[in-house]
Order: sequence, then structure tokens, then C-alpha cells
Amino acid sequence: MIYQTVADLNFRLSELPSLPYPLRVLMASPEHFDVTYVINAHMKGNIGEVNTDRTKKDWHAIQIAYRQCGIIVDEIPGIAGLPDMVFCANQTLPFLSADGTQKGVILSKMFAPQRADEVHYFRQHFEKRGYAIISDLAAGDLEFEGMGDALWHSGKRLLWGGYGFRTDKSVYDLISEKLDVPVILLDLEDPEFYHLDTCMCILDDDTVLIYPDAFTDEGQKLIRHFFPVVIEAPEIEARTLFACNAHCPDRKHVLIQRGCTQTNTLLRQHGFEVIELFTDEFLKSGGSVFCMKLMSW
Ligand code: ARG
Repeated sequence: MIYQTVADLNFRLSELPSLPYPLRVLMASPEHFDVTYVINAHMKGNIGEVNTDRTKKDWHAIQIAYRQCGIIVDEIPGIAGLPDMVFCANQTLPFLSADGTQKGVILSKMFAPQRADEVHYFRQHFEKRGYAIISDLAAGDLEFEGMGDALWHSGKRLLWGGYGFRTDKSVYDLISEKLDVPVILLDLEDPEFYHLDTCMCILDDDTVLIYPDAFTDEGQKLIRHFFPVVIEAPEIEARTLFACNAHCPDRKHVLIQRGCTQTNTLLRQHGFEVIELFTDEFLKSGGSVFCMKLMSW
């Protein structure tokens, strides 16, 4: 159930069970967001550079954009001393059981000790919402950063698993077994694209936005095998504006950092409506729209 090459594949996408589209996103409030340490290449030189007046305004604008798309926004309060908690894609991987009756989350084991305590607050949040909690990874030695690296295919029980910087490749064995899903592994090799969600944005069942050079040749082949339409973000927009850290919550609107001009043109040519947002302060920490929310059911 773990696939690393196109030659390994022994199933067709059409044979996989369907997965309902998530209609909720969780966001963590930004009052304690800051850059106070460096754990990725984008944070270098940004300690003390965050304009906190802008973060609140820009974060609220993202919430409003989701609501305009018909998505329910849940909130978890940010915690003092956890400046990266606002990037709430990373602490868990939400899932639905194969029969669709049980919601759950796999808890992450954060790569950086500075972020380890964040996971507890997400556990509490999901316990209150009645989600099953899988804590095997959180209790082990192998690192895993939730929906920063593990992305659900649009509409199908298939998981894309990035690894190399924040997540250990072997965690996907356990995830695949626990959730009873096939996992396509993607090796990440460029430190500026340290999470899968920095270089791959699944827009709808057929379309994906990627920065191709963040992947190996085999990784690109796997992506092209499953997506008839592959939109390629230009390097400058992917690297400096996190173009691929966009999010399409409804298979129509794409929420994306302001200024991704060429990417936006391509998105519009493929029938998407672009909603440009300011995430400039969050880019200083190495994150944009996709990292700042968690999809759930
Ligand atoms: N400063 C955070 C970190 O390095 C940013 C996380 C961004 N999240 C993401 N899913 N790409 O962990």
C-alpha cells in the first residue's frame, strides 16, 4: 500500500473508494505568532521582524475568504510561547474511517522541539469534537508533521506523503495500515520546499499546482500519472511567494498569497477564481495560506 514509483502501482484511481470533500477548516488565532527561532530556511533574518498589527488583520481576511466560499471556520486559540501554532496544518492529520462513520486525527510528532507542545492543544480540541485520537506516532521517535506533508487526494481515499525534511518516510507504513489507505511517497530535496504543501497544491480531482523542481523525476512522474492537469508555478513565485501553498477549498476558488501573477493567470486559464490574500508576515516564518488552516469533516 506504499508506492514510490509508477512501476509499483497496482491500482487505478477510479477503483479507490471516494472520500467526501471536507467542508470545515480549523484556524489557530495569531495573537502569539512571531519569528523567535529559525527552523527553516525562510525564517533566517526574520527574528523580530514580524509586524503584529498586520498579522491579525491578514489572518481575519483569510477567515472571511473561507466563509465566502461556504466553508465553516472553527477556531483554536493561539498559546503564548508557541509562536508557530498559527500554522495549524502541522500538528495533526484528520481522517474519516473507511465506512465514513468515525472522524479522527493522527497526532504529529513535531520535528522541532520548539513546536512539540503545540500538539497537545490540538489533541484537546479534537477530543472535545468527538474525534478518535491516534497517538502512536506522537509517542514514537519518528517525526511526522500532519497535513504539512500528508495530503488527501481530492475526493479519493488516497494519501500523498511528502518526506525528507520534517517527516520520516517510514511513518507512512503505520499511517497506511491504521487508515487502510494507499500512500504515494514523494521525496522532497530542496530545503526551501521543506513540507509537501510548499510545492504541491491539489486543486480538484484532476488538477494539481506544483513547483516541479522540488520533486525527483520519479516524484514528478507519479504526480503526472494521477493528475491529467498539472499547473506549474514559476520558480520565483513558488520560492518567494509560496504560490503552491495556496488552497482551493471548493474546487473553484483558489486562496493564494498576493502577487503570484503568472500562477494566477494559469489558474484562471484553467477555470479557477483567484482570491488574493496578504500573508506577507507569515511568509517570514515559512508559511502561507495552506499552512494556516486544517481541513476536517
Ligand atoms: N515556522 C513554521 C515551521 O517551520 C512554518 C510552518 C509552515 N507550515 C507548513 N505546513 N508549510 O514549522
